[in-house]
Amino acid sequence: MPTLERLRPDHAPALLAFERENRAFFAASIPDRGDDYFTGFAARHAELLAEQAAGMHHFHILTDGGGAVLGRVNLVDVAEGSADLGHRIAERFTGRGLATSAVREVCALAVTEYGLITLRASTTRDNKGSRTVLARTGFVEAGTTTLMGKPGLRFDRDLTAPCRAATAT
Ligand SMILES: CC(C)(COP(=O)(O)OP(=O)(O)OC[C@H]1O[C@@H](n2cnc3c(N)ncnc32)[C@H](O)[C@@H]1OP(=O)(O)O)[C@@H](O)C(=O)NCCC(=O)NCCS
Repeated sequence: MPTLERLRPDHAPALLAFERENRAFFAASIPDRGDDYFTGFAARHAELLAEQAAGMHHFHILTDGGGAVLGRVNLVDVAEGSADLGHRIAERFTGRGLATSAVREVCALAVTEYGLITLRASTTRDNKGSRTVLARTGFVEAGTTTLMGKPGLRFDRDLTAPCRAATAT
């Protein structure tokens, strides 16, 4: 059964494998991390964990219980009770509800563990999967933006409100 874990130092090899294997799939929908991310992965991983320890971000991976990474849900740039949510699932594990359940779990952690009151997210208009996940986990449209040169949408999640859309669609 997939398990959500807070990112740790020992997740590095499995996380790098996940990002490598799915790089092209992710880059079709969200900005590519760039070659430097992959070549300097160990140092970047350590740096991000230091920032997490300082309370700047909350990173989570979804594991299969055997060490492989199936997906990620991250809360970045924590400030004044708010953070930006990002999510990505390994291509071969999409279409099973993993993103929806993991985002829902991170929304709960954002309240109970991190003391946040709002989350933000954004996606391109043509990213139907992401828009469905965000709608089902209580995010509401909050404006427009541009991502990867394409029209995009911004979303807000009021964590003080119940997840109205969670069971409705
Ligand atoms: C978007 C993404 C996170 C969805 O992950 P997932 O685990 O497949 O999502 P879920 O299984 O929870 O899907 C939720 C709904 O969206 C639908 N959906 C998922 N991907 C879809 C797609 N490409 N096109 C249309 N609908 C899609 C699912 O079918 C499901 O609806 P259903 O229950 O009626 O079938 C995943 O495809 C991904 O990582 N994409 C690349 C990175 C990305 O776009 N991240 C989001 C950044 S904002």
